[in-house]
Amino acid sequence: MNFEETRQKLEKYNQQHLLRYYDTLSETKQADFIQQVAETDFSVVTRIGKKEAAKKESSISPIAAMTLDEIYAEKSHYEETGIEAIRSGKVGAVLLAGGMGTRLGSDNPKGMYDIGITKPIYIFERIIKNLFDVVDQTKAWIHLFVMTSDKNHEITMAFFEEHEYFGYDRKHIHFFKQDMAPASDYSGKIFLEEKWKLAASPNGNGGWFSSLMNAGLLDLMKREGIQWLNVFAVDNVLQRIADPTFIGAVIEKECESGAKVVRKNHPDEKVGVMCLEDGHPSIIEYYELTDSLRDTKTETGEPAYNFGVILNYLFRIDCLEDVVNKELPLHIVEKKIPYLDGQGKLIKPEKPNGYKFETLILDLIKLLNSCLPFEVERSKEFAPIKNKTGVDSVESARELLQQNGVEL
Ligand code: UTP
Repeated sequence: MNFEETRQKLEKYNQQHLLRYYDTLSETKQADFIQQVAETDFSVVTRIGKKEAAKKESSISPIAAMTLDEIYAEKSHYEETGIEAIRSGKVGAVLLAGGMGTRLGSDNPKGMYDIGITKPIYIFERIIKNLFDVVDQTKAWIHLFVMTSDKNHEITMAFFEEHEYFGYDRKHIHFFKQDMAPASDYSGKIFLEEKWKLAASPNGNGGWFSSLMNAGLLDLMKREGIQWLNVFAVDNVLQRIADPTFIGAVIEKECESGAKVVRKNHPDEKVGVMCLEDGHPSIIEYYELTDSLRDTKTETGEPAYNFGVILNYLFRIDCLEDVVNKELPLHIVEKKIPYLDGQGKLIKPEKPNGYKFETLILDLIKLLNSCLPFEVERSKEFAPIKNKTGVDSVESARELLQQNGVEL
């Protein structure tokens, strides 16, 4: 792209203000700027104000989950099937660690956060320990794919290296980067983060599979015979990764995907809940759950939409390949975005000042034909760290870890 083409692209999306400092830049920085403009998808800002079509209440119906009782009744053979799949190398794991963790408020990647009390215990370390439970049980290494972003790739890799991968086999850990999306003010004008650099942030966890493919890792998976991927968030320090019983149940029920779910602890808990939408498995975000859906009961008097997702999914890779080119809804989220003001000074806002643009993994479920909601005990498998204190925080996660016998 030359300067004229850059100018035209900016003009097309009404972003000429980004050229404000161009003439003052060195040649190298000018080239960097032009490259960013060439690589950036500006069309996202044209979607501001055009809300994605809300899910229609009439198309929503309850989905049955596999409950704890049902799982216990069949546990041994589900577990056997899962162990067999892991031993034959059919299962990989994907750690989503590309987020910014803004609510936790640490400058480092969330996985580097130390949650220890008497000794350092890093979130990444806990995750590897959890994965080791299954590696020890099955005596088989599981390939772990770690998604990072431009903002934290180098530091994440260096951290694993420095801690010798917490004892995990180096050859079974693979890092890949997700894509970025520009960030704008409320009127859709993209911010500058430096005089030569557009403000950009990771584009949500929805694009993990295409990023994995773009990094060439699908070839590795095919070579290794991996057929299933267990995808999970960095911040749940209690979760079971590559849980054989979960994997076995999804395989035996011949589902294309599975989602670990917990019973909501109160009707307004802020978790997405599983449902059927036009007959397809789907997830309603908590802010889309209308009062009438929230209060709908089953024949036995239980809340009909009571199974919340905990961001631990199992996907069949060939089914993901079929849908990878389908567009996911774009979520436009208000965030605090650092930006250069008119004088070229970097401002770090105290409250939200604009939008980030994200796609979400939960929207992938609707593209598939089947999903098994698989109930787990929240006190044993759900300790998310979103905030420093209060709900879903370092404090609450520590308490849950201790209840589960983890020494901190
Ligand atoms: P969250 O939705 O909690 O976002 O991510 P976050 O960025 O970590 O935290 P806040 O909202 O800024 O406080 C859920 C999971 O998805 C990953 C996160 O790393 C976490 O494991 N994620 C999120 C990505 O991998 N990429 C993204 O662009 C966003």
